[in-house]
Amino acid sequence: MIKIFPSILSADFSRIIDAVQLVEEAGADGLHIDIMDGHFVPNLTFGPDLVASLKEKSNLLLDVHLMVENARQFINLFAQAGADWISIHAEGAVHLHYDLNLIKEMGKKAGVVLNPATPIHCLTEVITEVDFVLLMTVNPGWGGQEFIPACHQKITRLKNWLQGQQLPIPVEIDGGVKIDNFGELIGDGADIFVVGSGIFNTPDPAQTLRRFQEIAATWENKE
Ligand code: DX5
Ligand code: ZN
Repeated sequence: MIKIFPSILSADFSRIIDAVQLVEEAGADGLHIDIMDGHFVPNLTFGPDLVASLKEKSNLLLDVHLMVENARQFINLFAQAGADWISIHAEGAVHLHYDLNLIKEMGKKAGVVLNPATPIHCLTEVITEVDFVLLMTVNPGWGGQEFIPACHQKITRLKNWLQGQQLPIPVEIDGGVKIDNFGELIGDGADIFVVGSGIFNTPDPAQTLRRFQEIAATWENKE
């Protein structure tokens, strides 16, 4: 099942709830929330209070992507705030195995994120602890960047590697997903698509999300 998680990073921050309600009503599968600390990435965004507030006002699955140094110190806060999925970067975790289990002990789905330059084999020793893998398909820090072409092949290699081990772990991708490359990215093997500017920076975000859903349905009917 292909899933689409709009990323509020590209929403109008003065009217975030309107953006969330709009994609919820249009049938989004989840909401991607980018947490940046100004250290791990050179940008700042939201804290756990925003997650708690959205949890109260929305029934969407909340997918929290931690782009922070020392992610462990924030896992508890975001879990208590109502995150459903929490992902941490392999590049930032000294004790990745421990941190993934901390997320799962809090009853949340645990994901590992890999930056574009980080090889897939970094997952080898932790893959059995992981509920989903998030591949960055741009360098993290900002919305609205171009998809990095080398990531097409990386998605396929990751998917093949997981299937070869009979591991039904979904592959989520994040960055540069647009209507124009969506079909190709489904073909590459991705399962979950984070889309920021590709939805919110279009004239009619709800209509664009429905267009993504139609393309996904066409691919699912082919299989
Ligand atoms: C980038 C973030 C993404 C961002 C993607 O660091 O992790 O989630 O919102 O934005 P688009 O879809 O515009 O590339
Ligand atoms: Zn993200």
